[in-house]
Amino acid sequence: MSETVVAANWKMNKTVSESDYLITEILKNIPPVSSVTCVVFPPFLSIPSASRLIRNTSVKLGAQNMHSAQNGAFTGEVSAAMLQDFCSYVLLGHSERRLLFGETHEFVNEKLSVSIACGLRPIVCVGEQSLDRQNGLTENVIRNQIKSSFRNITDIGNIIVAYEPVWAIGTGTAASPDDAENINKFIRDELGSIFGTEQVSKTPILYGGSVTEDNIADFLGKPNVNGALIGGASLNSEGFTEILRIASDLT
Ligand code: PGA
Repeated sequence: MSETVVAANWKMNKTVSESDYLITEILKNIPPVSSVTCVVFPPFLSIPSASRLIRNTSVKLGAQNMHSAQNGAFTGEVSAAMLQDFCSYVLLGHSERRLLFGETHEFVNEKLSVSIACGLRPIVCVGEQSLDRQNGLTENVIRNQIKSSFRNITDIGNIIVAYEPVWAIGTGTAASPDDAENINKFIRDELGSIFGTEQVSKTPILYGGSVTEDNIADFLGKPNVNGALIGGASLNSEGFTEILRIASDLT
């Protein structure tokens, strides 16, 4: 069985004091004993303070992005080396990075290699846009994203993959649990053709896109949906800890 991972992507929300408050509330209400891996991705500025708050707790901390270079003339960017002191996870290839900031497959691939080398556990996001889906191109798009993002990666290791259909992100219209299961199975098969079926059988493959406390159980009921990447519903502690409770009860 794969590990179950519930991850909170706060995107560009929460000041440092708001982040501190949200983390504190999550820590107060999180199920005391759980086999679910809970990862929180605050904005960069909140990371140092969040890392102090989560010390000696079960909550893990991640960054929403990183640059592949170690250092240098990259104004506005943050390197893996800078994150290492605070974080153990990093989100790579989120569709907002790809679509709004022009991140290419090649760049995601470079970041993936560097994150692994630096010991940051990556969550690699893939997913089709609405037009791809309408044109029946979902599998082609995802295959291409996987092949390019994982180029020259020799070991799936503890990499996590998240299937996030772009049309479902922040829209309130989630994919159906059956669709998520089918695509997650497709992703596992594609990864299996690169790394071997045995190796990827334990890879957590998450679903993301309008996940809430109302639909999380349906997604987690599917064998190839091993958790969720949650945006909007992770911004308040009640909703997010309810999701964690449901996930813990199911695992
Ligand atoms: P959402 O975002 O839960 O608000 O749809 C998910 C994501 O972008 O990771």
